[in-house]
Amino acid sequence: MHVDFYEKIWMWAAIGIIVIFLASIGFTTFGMAVRPPSHVEMIDPETVRSDPEFSQPGVTIHEDGSATVVIQAMIFAFLPNEIHVPRGRPVTFRLTSPDVIHGFQIVGTNGNTMVVPGYVSQFTTEFSRAGEYLIVCNEYCGLGHHAMSAKLVVEEMGGSR
Ligand code: CUA
Repeated sequence: MHVDFYEKIWMWAAIGIIVIFLASIGFTTFGMAVRPPSHVEMIDPETVRSDPEFSQPGVTIHEDGSATVVIQAMIFAFLPNEIHVPRGRPVTFRLTSPDVIHGFQIVGTNGNTMVVPGYVSQFTTEFSRAGEYLIVCNEYCGLGHHAMSAKLVVEEMGGSR
């Protein structure tokens, strides 16, 4: 089959663009850990405030130095409002909402998830840089949406590493 020279250039250009797109998805997923949360766990929104886990939101530091953070996202606040986590250790966030859909974005990091009533959103990440980070709600949730924020403090917490 004869394929014109210019036609060949365009065919290879199209293939090249597809390869670049797939490679960039692979790079951001595996190289930069930018991926959607894949955890599915259900909870009745009516029971969030009496749930043994979510009625006691806060940070638990484990023996290996990793941490679990349990958070309620509600109109129009995050509970707790200030979160201290270790630097350079896996930090698992577990969130749910007793009311409407909220967002949870740790500005300047890959920590970002929707918080949907009826579900527990969970993701694990690590913070390599100590300091203060702003947490914002990035899903419009009502009149106080713009004021819904919290503070994350990443700090050295000793440990065996
Ligand atoms: Cu919560 Cu916007």
